[in-house]
Amino acid sequence: MPPILETASARWNLVSSETPLDQFPEPNLFESLMREARYAQDNAYAPYSEFQVGAALVIGGRIYRGANVENASYGATMCAERTALFNGVSDGERQLTLLAITTSAEPLSPIESRSPCGLCRQVMSEFTTSDALVLLDAGDENGQLVGDIIPFSVLFPFQFKLGGE
Ligand code: THU
Repeated sequence: MPPILETASARWNLVSSETPLDQFPEPNLFESLMREARYAQDNAYAPYSEFQVGAALVIGGRIYRGANVENASYGATMCAERTALFNGVSDGERQLTLLAITTSAEPLSPIESRSPCGLCRQVMSEFTTSDALVLLDAGDENGQLVGDIIPFSVLFPFQFKLGGE
């Protein structure tokens, strides 16, 4: 059984036993950020895949949301994570500490179907702090929101950085 962080209304599976949680002393932040992501998902424009994604993140201490926006050309589609991130970065924020993602994947489905794509990981890596965390929605169970918490460094090791900083 993986370690778990539990509140009255949410249960989080800690994918890594070395998850730096000290920076977030209030665990209800995780649930409220995921609820922001679910809110953003309602505005997803996904008529082609019908796979709606919502993201909410904390960057520079501020919260931004985004949804996926598809296009008839398919290739011009923008993922929810980058929509949210670009909202924050274009407001001048640079320090990404927490990111919540919800998708229309089946509840409790394998983590791969609820994880950010490789392009989004690379773009996020430009702005993540070394101990940034990612929250993946897994649905609701027994009246609790269920999700996974993954350190960004576990989700995306050996990040490409110019000069290897
Ligand atoms: N999508 C995201 O928004 N984020 C991801 O990380 C994976 C994929 C969107 C893109 C497209 O609109 C739909 O999900 C199906 O790939």
